[in-house]
Amino acid sequence: MTRENETGRYPLEPSAAEMRQLVEAVLARLVEHVETLPEQPAASTEGGAALARALSGPLPETGRPLEEVLDLLFARAVPCSFNTAGPGYLAYIPGGGLFHAAVARLLADTVNRYIGVFAAAPALSQLEADVVRWLAGVVGFPASARGMLTSGGSLANFTAVVTARRERLPEQFLAGTLYVSDQTHHSVGKAALLAGFPAAAVRAVPSDARCRIRLDALAAMVAADRAAGRQPFFVVGNGGTTNTGAVDPLPELADFAAREGLWFHVDAAYGGFFALTERGRATLAGMERADSVILDPHKGMFLPYGTGALVVRDGTALYRAHSFSADYLPPSQEEADLVDFHLISPELSRPNRGLGLWLPLQVLGIAPFREALDEKLTLARWLADELAATPPFELVTEPELSLFAFRLHPPGVEGEALDALNRELLARVNARNRVHLTPTILDCGYVLRACVLSFRTHRDRVEAGLADLRAEAAALLAR
Ligand SMILES: Cc1ncc(COP(=O)(O)O)c(C=O)c1O
Repeated sequence: MTRENETGRYPLEPSAAEMRQLVEAVLARLVEHVETLPEQPAASTEGGAALARALSGPLPETGRPLEEVLDLLFARAVPCSFNTAGPGYLAYIPGGGLFHAAVARLLADTVNRYIGVFAAAPALSQLEADVVRWLAGVVGFPASARGMLTSGGSLANFTAVVTARRERLPEQFLAGTLYVSDQTHHSVGKAALLAGFPAAAVRAVPSDARCRIRLDALAAMVAADRAAGRQPFFVVGNGGTTNTGAVDPLPELADFAAREGLWFHVDAAYGGFFALTERGRATLAGMERADSVILDPHKGMFLPYGTGALVVRDGTALYRAHSFSADYLPPSQEEADLVDFHLISPELSRPNRGLGLWLPLQVLGIAPFREALDEKLTLARWLADELAATPPFELVTEPELSLFAFRLHPPGVEGEALDALNRELLARVNARNRVHLTPTILDCGYVLRACVLSFRTHRDRVEAGLADLRAEAAALLAR
C-alpha cells in the first residue's frame, strides 16, 4: 500500500490519536445504548424486511465518516431488533451482553494472538485451558476432563456427537442410533445429520407430563433397535430444555446409559450454570455422571453471543476424535497439564474466546454470577407462584430452574379457541413492550413461556411483566 493519510500513515494503521478517537466515538454510543436499555422496547422489528433491504448496499471503494456509520447502526439497524440485552427479554433463552466480556473481546481481537496452536501463545492458551477446567468443575467432572470453547451450543453438541461416534462406533457407523427426548433441542438432531447419520438414526423418545424423557419408552426403543440389528450408542439428557426448562431424570439416565453401554451426553446449554447455585446443583444432580456436557456461557454466564462450551469426562476421547498433524505446524504440546486446542477440537484458527470469560472472572470473581443466577431462580419461582395464584392462569410446567410454561385457561375454553385466546394474550402483552415472551407448542396445545436469564432482569421488570399479563388477561376475559 502506498497511499498515506493526512497524518502520514497508512490508512489501515491508525495513529495513537486515531485509535483513541475510534474507540471513544464507539464508547460514547455504547454507554448511551447500555444506559438506556431498560427504556428501549423489549422488541421492535416492525418494517424489518424493508429496513434490511434499504440498508443493504454495494461494496464501498472509499470510506465515509465513522459518525455516519455509527448513526446508521445506532439510529437504524440496532433499534430494529429483539432487545436481547435488555431486562425485559424473557423470550427463547435470553442472551447476555456482559460489558466486561465485550471489553475482553476488544482486548483479545486487538492483540490478536494465535491460540489455535499452543506454541504460538502458550500462556494465553493456558488461560483458556483454565477457563475450560473451571467449567468442568461446574459440571462436577474429574481432572481427566478436557474441553473447548465453541461458537455456541450447536457446535458444542456437534463436537460431542462426533467424539461419541469415534469412541463407540466402528468406521462403518450408519447402524448407530441416538436417543433424544421429544423436547431435546433441535441442534442435537442437526449435529447427528452433520456427523453423517441418516435422519432416521435419531430417535425421539416421548416425554412425560413434566416434559421429561420417559425412561420406560427409552428402554423399549433401545431394546427394539438392538433386536433389529441397530447399534444404540448415544443418549441425551436435558439439563433444562428450551421448551419448558425441564430437567430430565439425570441419575436414572446415567444408570441406564451405563447398563446399556451408551455415551451419556447432557445438553445443559441453558441450565448448566445453575449448578453454581445450591438449588441448581440439586436440580442438576447426575450431570456429573455424563460422558460429555455442553453449557453455554453466552446464556448462563451472560456473555455476548458467540461462546459455547463442551466438556468431556475422559479428555483423551477428544484427542482420539480430533488429533491431526501437518508438516507446516509447529510442534504440538503433549504434556498432560497443558492443552493444545487444535488437537482436541475441530478448529485451527479461531478467536480467543477464553479471554471473554477469563477477564470478567478475574475482575469480578464468580460470586456475582452465582448471586445473579440465584436471583433468576427466585424470580422465575415468584412469577410462577403469582400466575398460579391468578386464575384462570395455569402453570403448564413448574419452573425447575428459571424457565416455565403457562397459559390462560378459562373454564370451558378448550382446543383451538384456547390456543387462539393465548395467542392473542401473547400479542397484547408483547405489544406493551416492557417484556418480550415467546410461545411453544406442547401436547396440551399452545402455551406461553417465561425464561428469566438476563443478568439485567430484576424484580421490577418481572413485576411489570406480571402486571401486563394480568391486565391483558382481564381485558380479554371481559370481552
Ligand atoms: C438446550 C439448548 N441446547 C442447545 C442450544 C443451541 O445453542 P446455540 O444457539 O448456542 O447454538 C440451545 C439454544 O438456545 C439450547 O437452548
